[in-house]
Amino acid sequence: MKKFLWLIVGLIVLGIIALATPGKLTLPILIPIATTTPSPTPSPTPIPTPPSNSGPGLTAAVVAKHNNAASCYTIISNKVYDLTDWINQHPGGEGAILSICGIDGTNAFNDQHGGQGRPERILQNFYLGNLTN
Ligand code: HEM
Repeated sequence: MKKFLWLIVGLIVLGIIALATPGKLTLPILIPIATTTPSPTPSPTPIPTPPSNSGPGLTAAVVAKHNNAASCYTIISNKVYDLTDWINQHPGGEGAILSICGIDGTNAFNDQHGGQGRPERILQNFYLGNLTN
């Protein structure tokens, strides 16, 4: 019976403490709610803008301007190549490359190297783009 009375007294004391300090008791409940970090809004993936087709492109006229050792473009089978860096590396001499700067070098290339694997492979390193009208 005595134990029961102590229990009652204990509960009353706890009740008084709870009423006197409402903030402290509710705080642990509120903190997790208040500190929940909002999930960041996913930013939209930027869509790359396609290159504008307003420029002249790789026309024969553009190639014709690159007709020297400072800048050497050539056309081979309707594809444009920038051979500037190849001029002084060419095993067949600088003159052979310089002779096709700014013009269509298809025949010159094919006459010399048609069907040869190595020159064809090296040529691909200098590909700029397809010839446009
Ligand atoms: C346009 C791009 C060209 C590339 C990428 C190219 C590449 C090469 C390569 C790699 C060789 C060494 C031979 C081999 O390893 O098979 C070579 C040799 C040679 N090329 Fe070209 N070539 C080009 C254009 C030309 C042109 C237009 C001519 C002539 C008009 C020419 C004339 C020669 C000659 C005569 C050799 C032989 C050199 C020798 O064996 O002593 N090449 N070229």
